Amino acid sequence: MDLSARLAEQQAGGLTRQHRLVEGPQQRRLQVKGRELINFSSNDYLGLANDPAVRQAFIEGADQYGVGAGAAHLITGHTRAHHELEGALAEFTGRDRALLFSTGYMANLGVLSALTDRHDVVYQDRLNHASLIDAGLLSRADARRYKHVDVDDLQRQVDDRQGIIATDGVFSMEGDIAPLRALAAIAQPRGLMLMVDEAHGLGVLGESGQGSAAMAGLGQEEVPLLMGTLGKALGTYGAFVAGSETVIESLIQFARSYVYTTAPPAAIACATLASLEIVQGEPERRERLFDNIRYFQELAGQLGIQAGNHQTPIQPVRFADIDTLMQAQQGLEAQGLLVSAIRPPTVPAPMLRITLSSEHQRQDIEQLFAALETALNDD
Ligand SMILES: Cc1ncc(COP(=O)(O)O)c(C=O)c1O
Repeated sequence: MDLSARLAEQQAGGLTRQHRLVEGPQQRRLQVKGRELINFSSNDYLGLANDPAVRQAFIEGADQYGVGAGAAHLITGHTRAHHELEGALAEFTGRDRALLFSTGYMANLGVLSALTDRHDVVYQDRLNHASLIDAGLLSRADARRYKHVDVDDLQRQVDDRQGIIATDGVFSMEGDIAPLRALAAIAQPRGLMLMVDEAHGLGVLGESGQGSAAMAGLGQEEVPLLMGTLGKALGTYGAFVAGSETVIESLIQFARSYVYTTAPPAAIACATLASLEIVQGEPERRERLFDNIRYFQELAGQLGIQAGNHQTPIQPVRFADIDTLMQAQQGLEAQGLLVSAIRPPTVPAPMLRITLSSEHQRQDIEQLFAALETALNDD
């Protein structure tokens, strides 16, 4: 393959991806290139990534266990801290058992390839996260996609084969919520397993932050495969799958992305235990987050800006083309606001992905809309 030609093509299409060098912790204001920017780009929805109690648990965890896990979970990498976190996550999500994975990407790969074979089929929402889509393609199952949140399209595709229906609970770019009850109603009578990726629901939705499945009133029977990530609202790193004994034991035996990789550091498990306690014990964080979401929606409505829905912290604002999107993003950055520009192929059409957190102040959101109005009028 001609790599240089491919890179040139990426650049010509305005699609080159670049790092941004951040100088300090994830928080409401980020230090970037010597400037302080209001952060509307991260998934730290509850402000836990740099919370003092979570940081302290991490430090104490490192004092007790050191830094590296040293080996895979099934060799010597699985500590009491990992074990306790798995128990706490199972209890939190109302599942029999939970299993930690090093990342959400690896959890999704593990589930779809370990729990299906070539006779099975995996149905996925077309806008599922890349890790689920890749997982479907890497599994030996027949990988099918249905139109975004279109239950009728799924219904038309299902046949009598066994397999999995997999969906993001909250879609990572659109910020909308999957029709989980309708998906469960298709899956259950056919013996298909419904898998919900709670990367953006965990900590945010449901009474105590158990996620979108809990908010829809669905337990282990209706959603036998629940995946959650720890690097977003929980503010740490890694992921887990929660489900029945049989599901978890199958993952331990057969999920290659679990078996053949170093366990995450025990100190991360210690920090996550602390953040899980905060998620359950400080509902005021979710209240502040939802106040901010409501305020965002109100200001968007006043300015006639079409954004996301009122139920999640992910708010897409769409643009006609990549050039105007990039100009708007740079304009916002010049005014001290950090917002992610998301381009195809990550999303079907160019958009700003604005994420809100419990830590934003009303004036941050006002500043964002003042700058957005200018950017959209220059469009
Ligand atoms: C919906 C969804 N699933 C899975 C992942 C992957 O999780 P991780 O970052 O832990 O690999 C992400 C984001 O990264 C996501 O948005």
